[in-house]
Amino acid sequence: MTVQDIEFTLKDGRRAVIRNPRHEDIEDTLDYLRTSAGETEFIVRYPEECGRYTPEGERAFFDSANASDHEVMLLCRVEGKLAGTCQLQWSRAIKTRHRAMAAIAILKEYWNLGIGTRMFQEMIRVAEENPYITQMELDFVEGNTRARSLYEKMGFRITGVHPNAIRLKDGTLLNEYAMIREIKR
Ligand SMILES: CC(C)(COP(=O)(O)OP(=O)(O)OC[C@H]1O[C@@H](n2cnc3c(N)ncnc32)[C@H](O)[C@@H]1OP(=O)(O)O)[C@@H](O)C(=O)NCCC(=O)NCCS
Repeated sequence: MTVQDIEFTLKDGRRAVIRNPRHEDIEDTLDYLRTSAGETEFIVRYPEECGRYTPEGERAFFDSANASDHEVMLLCRVEGKLAGTCQLQWSRAIKTRHRAMAAIAILKEYWNLGIGTRMFQEMIRVAEENPYITQMELDFVEGNTRARSLYEKMGFRITGVHPNAIRLKDGTLLNEYAMIREIKR
């Protein structure tokens, strides 16, 4: 689905826009996927696993997300540069269409500027406007205090743990925590 463009001011005073992806965003999105995967262990892919993302694949993905009635993809540009993306997806199935799954990743250069907060406000608005959605869900990896702090600020609470869900290249095992935020209208 598509939403209206959102223009806002970052904590450092720069202007930013959150909007749906367009074909002109394809190359920057491919760079962003590779860069973000190398900047943090809290994303579930390594940079060398990004080869499966292609311009054709991104084009199809953008078109599909924008035309879909069960997901929204947003990206944020700061002074023209791609800073991050987020997605909210929900099922068409009757038994699970009340659950919407959220995901987000911002490039390190743009952390702590309020982009995550503004993206979540918009994803929550989308969820609230869908008559079936009663809860938003997401996971975060053990140690991701910035993400946890953002999610708790946005009203999420921890509901469970998936022990050793992530295994890093050096063998380190990390738990994944599930969070839920109720949608009230
Ligand atoms: C987690 C992430 C999405 C947050 O986005 P963001 O744009 O930096 O978020 P915001 O700036 O809106 O808010 C971050 C909040 O965390 C707080 N924070 C920053 N560093 C923190 C830390 N080390 N511990 C706890 N809280 C922290 C900030 O103070 C801010 O809260 P405030 O607005 O009340 O001051 C972003 O850092 C990111 O993409 N990280 C890498 C990928 C990732 O981890 N994705 C999530 C996977 S679950």
